Amino acid sequence: MPPAPVAPEGYQTESILKANKQAAEHGIDLSKLPKLMDLSAASITENVHAINSNCPDERTKFIFKHLIQHIHDFVRETSLTTEEWMTAIHFLTQTGKTCSDIRQEFILLSDTLGVSALVDSLNNAKPPGATEGSVLGPFFTEDAYDFQNGESIASEGKGEYMYVHGRVLDTKGKPVPHAVIDTWETDGFGMYDTQYSEREKPECRGRLKSDGDGNYAFRAVVPVSYPIPSDGPVGKMVTKLGRHVFRPAHLHMQIEAPGYEKLTTALYPRGDPYISSDAVFGVKSSLIVDLKPVNDPELATKRGFGDPNKIHMELEHDFILATPEEGKVARKKTHEEMMKGVKTGMDHLKLD
Ligand code: BEZ
Ligand code: FE
Repeated sequence: MPPAPVAPEGYQTESILKANKQAAEHGIDLSKLPKLMDLSAASITENVHAINSNCPDERTKFIFKHLIQHIHDFVRETSLTTEEWMTAIHFLTQTGKTCSDIRQEFILLSDTLGVSALVDSLNNAKPPGATEGSVLGPFFTEDAYDFQNGESIASEGKGEYMYVHGRVLDTKGKPVPHAVIDTWETDGFGMYDTQYSEREKPECRGRLKSDGDGNYAFRAVVPVSYPIPSDGPVGKMVTKLGRHVFRPAHLHMQIEAPGYEKLTTALYPRGDPYISSDAVFGVKSSLIVDLKPVNDPELATKRGFGDPNKIHMELEHDFILATPEEGKVARKKTHEEMMKGVKTGMDHLKLD
C-alpha cells in the first residue's frame, strides 16, 4: 500500500483559514486573548475573569469581575440545580415581558429585593440633621400642575382632608427660599392617578415652591397603604417568599433648590400596620411622622377645605437639605462604615 500523503508543514484547512480571516475582519487579535483551558467547575470562574480582563473600561471590568464572582459563588454555595436555574431564567423572561412603556417590572424586582433601597442609601447618604431619602417608586410623573402655596393637590372627594405645612431649611437652620417641591400620593382608595385607565389630568400630585422664608403649605388627602403592582412575576415571587405586597401609607416629596442636593423622600404617618414591613424597604424612622386631628371649622375655612365641619389631619414637617459638599462627606462616611474590610470600587464616585 502506498504511504498516506503527509500534509505540508503549516498546512491549514479551508475552515481554519476562513475562521482566521473572519477573526481579522471582526478586529479580533487572537494573539492578545487569554487562553481558556480545562474548563471545569473548579476553573470556570478564573477563566471568565481572564477572558473579561481585556475590557478597556476599568469600572466595567471591575463590576463584571464582582458580578461573575458572586453569581458563580451563588451557584456553588446553593448547589443550584438545572431545574432551579431554568426557573430563574423563566422568571426573568416573564419579568421582561411584563415591562411596557408604563410598567417597569425590573425596577419592582430591584425594589422588592432591597437593591433600590441599598443603591439609594449609598448614593444619597445625608449628613446628620438632613432629611433622609426614600425610594422614588414608579409613580412620579413630569406632568404635575404648578400650585401656589396653600392650594390643594387633590380634588374634593379624593380622600380624607390633610393639611401639610412646614419649612425647607439647610443644615444650619437657614430657610431655603423658592425650593421647588414636587409631591405625589395615592388617593384615599390607594390608587395613583396613573393607575386609572380613564386618567384625564394629574390628580393627587402637584408642584409648588417654598416662599421667601422657606415656608410651604398645601392641602392633600390622608395617605393610605396600598399594594405594589402584584399581578406580575414580582408579586408572585413576593407571595412565594411568604411576604405581603403592601406599602405603608406615605406622601412622596422631591425637593430641589440651587446650591443643594436634590432630595427624594417620603413621609410615613405613624400607626400604619405595614410601617415595619414595607414591601419595598422605604421606611426610615426619621421619616415617620405624626398626623394631628384638627377639629376647628374656622381654621379649616382659613386653610381652604371644602367642608369646614369635617375634621382634617395636620402634618407639619420641615425638610432639611444638604449641600453637595455635605453630601460628599456623608457618602464617604457611609461607604467607609458599610464597607469596612471589603474591597470596593468606589473610585468612580470621586469621594476625595
Ligand atoms: C411607591 O411608593 O410609589 C412605590 C415604590 C416602589 C415600588 C412600588 C411603588
Ligand atoms: Fe408611593
